[in-house]
Amino acid sequence: MSKLLKNFYKKTIDERKEALSEINLYDASLDYKADDIVFDHLIENFITTYEVGLGVAPDFLIDGQLYHVPMATEEPSVIAGAAHAAKIIYRNGGFIIDSIKRTMLGQIIFKNVENPDRLMSYLNDHKDTFKDIAYKAHKQIHDLGGGFIDFKVENKGEGFVCLYLKVNTLDAMGANTINTILEAISEFVTLDYKAEVLMSILSNLAVDAVVKASVKINPSHLKNSDVVHHDIAAASTYAHIDPYRATTHNKGVMNGISALMLATGNDTRSIEAGAHAYAAISGQYQPLTKWYVQDNFLIGEIEIPLALGTVGGSMGILPKVKLSHKILGIQKATDLMKVAACLGLAQNFAALYALTTDGINKGHMRLHARNVAFEAGASQSNIQEVVHHLVSTKNITVDNAKDYLKSIKK
Ligand code: MEV
Repeated sequence: MSKLLKNFYKKTIDERKEALSEINLYDASLDYKADDIVFDHLIENFITTYEVGLGVAPDFLIDGQLYHVPMATEEPSVIAGAAHAAKIIYRNGGFIIDSIKRTMLGQIIFKNVENPDRLMSYLNDHKDTFKDIAYKAHKQIHDLGGGFIDFKVENKGEGFVCLYLKVNTLDAMGANTINTILEAISEFVTLDYKAEVLMSILSNLAVDAVVKASVKINPSHLKNSDVVHHDIAAASTYAHIDPYRATTHNKGVMNGISALMLATGNDTRSIEAGAHAYAAISGQYQPLTKWYVQDNFLIGEIEIPLALGTVGGSMGILPKVKLSHKILGIQKATDLMKVAACLGLAQNFAALYALTTDGINKGHMRLHARNVAFEAGASQSNIQEVVHHLVSTKNITVDNAKDYLKSIKK
């Protein structure tokens, strides 16, 4: 059982590592940069690595279980926002997982189909054959209890028929597994039926890998407690009406989720593509979260597809990815899905709370000022002073920081 990481943000880097070590969530032997040779195998035309900071948003209480969430991001204020929201939500009893499902989807798209009904009934009649082909194509996943689940076929018009295949990829995101099975089935159909296959590929619109989570917050724990819950609910209603706002609203949700995906070696683009497509599934782009007031409590809900994995890809190779998994302390992909959904909801809460109270700049400015001070050459010993000067003069520029540094060095 994990424990709360009190005042984590006030600690030094070493003290934070120490605090995580004390609860067995940090392993110094994983905290190193992999050799260039590893990256040279992972990607093409490799020349160097590119750094992004890895931090921890502590104290996410999810269904009674405490998690500390590793996040890799270049954006100041994202981890602070998540951590602040998690603390408020912790005091309100934590996050609840309302439902979770985890099945991946793939597509075989047939082209130039002259008689769609005939092809569709052929496909529907060959379920056992396809099951058998899937088993032979990827014996390992089936032997472990996953693999082929079912399929459906649809006439898409304009000479296209699509076979949608459902696959259980266990704890892997499973792109290779799905694609291997799809290609084996499409090869059989091409030969046996003489059908023409346009392509076989997984779908990132993971409608069967969706998490729903919620929180219930007592506004008396918040600033402006008489109106803040109504304003956050109004922000949610507005995002339902206006896709310009819904996009920014969802960007805030993904600030958290993408940072966790990057830290844990997941494919950030597949998660983002899936989330945004799901947001638009009704035909109008919608927010991925919903906030409303019930019995004077603020209720927040998220519903999001998260076709992620805890094994495969770079996860067994890169030490920092392994370190992130160590910090999270989870093995199952469904557990990571739960944490990711709650993180998205927390991140969104942090943004809406800031936007409807102080405005976004107040919190951001101090963090932005820190970057500016660094850029101007501030050191560990004078950075706080420089930041204070930049914020109090309301002039957060490198020139202002440089001038101030000159004046204090005199
Ligand atoms: C900034 O990265 C994210 C926000 O714009 C999200 C939002 O507006 O809800 C603050």
